[in-house]
Amino acid sequence: MKAVVNEAYGSPDRLDIRELPTPQPEAGEILIRVHATTVSRTDSCALRAHPFFVRAATGLLRPRRTILGLDFAGTVEALGRGVVKFHEGDRVFGLTPDGYGAHAEYLCLPAEGAVSPMPPGKRFQELVVCEGAWYANTYLERFRLGPGHRILIYGASGAIGTSALQLAKIHGAEVTAVVSPPHLSLARELGADRVIDYTAEDFTALGNCFDFVLDAVGKSSYLQCRPLLKRDGVFAATDLGPCWQNLLLATWSALTGTGRVVFPIPRQDPSFLAFLRERIQAGEFRAVIDREYPLEKIAAAYRYVETEQKAGIVVIAVVEEDNDNGTDKGS
Ligand SMILES: NC(=O)c1ccc[n+]([C@@H]2O[C@H](COP(=O)([O-])OP(=O)(O)OC[C@H]3O[C@@H](n4cnc5c(N)ncnc54)[C@H](OP(=O)(O)O)[C@@H]3O)[C@@H](O)[C@H]2O)c1
Repeated sequence: MKAVVNEAYGSPDRLDIRELPTPQPEAGEILIRVHATTVSRTDSCALRAHPFFVRAATGLLRPRRTILGLDFAGTVEALGRGVVKFHEGDRVFGLTPDGYGAHAEYLCLPAEGAVSPMPPGKRFQELVVCEGAWYANTYLERFRLGPGHRILIYGASGAIGTSALQLAKIHGAEVTAVVSPPHLSLARELGADRVIDYTAEDFTALGNCFDFVLDAVGKSSYLQCRPLLKRDGVFAATDLGPCWQNLLLATWSALTGTGRVVFPIPRQDPSFLAFLRERIQAGEFRAVIDREYPLEKIAAAYRYVETEQKAGIVVIAVVEEDNDNGTDKGS
């Protein structure tokens, strides 16, 4: 199989597309032929080992796992012993269990993991949305967001931001989205009740009317957003912030019991996929695809993701000549 291999930390120029043996599923696993995957900010951080401390998880001197890629959509090619949940030919989507392995033509993973049948009528490219949605869901769950809540999402145009916006509407909240001019119409299309252009308007001057503020792109701070929060409002950020302040403030908030700043760590929850699948099928959640690259051009995809300007996701078409019209070809 073709796989994108990185044996040393560094720039996307180090990525090497190689022929490797196709993995074989062990008991309880399925072999998936990957049709589509993404390059995410997480892949990009893992490739460069940035920030440095990620090496504690990924390998101190060189990457322990050499094929990146979290999101996948594809077809079940073979079943390991004892698997009854899937059949050969099923169209599935999900997240790799430990965040590695989807930048390849084939992938083995546990049948009981974060993998779900695709909703009917969808293309593979439209299903590689799990990581952003899963992160966004972690924040909204931590907020206990519900009907009637008012939330401001700063950076509502990225992978997490576009997911958070759609999921917040699904939860019945009133959403204010803060984005740049090219993304104003996107935020409206995704259901934002109010859209603020951060280049033209000071979003921090909207008053203390929000139950929650989510900095979905890690470019703001609690101190900047504090005037927006109601008395018992809560701030969360997707990044550590300058001098790791979001982590420090969240720790301080937890120790003092104010709960004013939170920094939840996402944990994979396979049941979230079933929820997401239903929402996609119901037309309440959709992929926002910025660009699509063939596997051979994955280094260019990384370079684009590194600009920190993508809207939604950057898709890698692993099977290029897909002619995929979203119909089930399997069982
Ligand atoms: N992707 C993931 O699943 C993931 C996982 C873990 C952690 N994270 C972290 O979470 C954060 C968000 O990740 P992401 O993948 O969602 O980001 P992303 O898709 O790369 O976000 C890019 C978007 O943010 C907007 N943006 C850039 N600068 C901005 C600013 N100053 N104010 C408001 N919007 C701005 C960009 O549009 P404009 O420049 O036109 O405004 C662009 O649409 C990152 O810090 C990342 O490291 C991401």
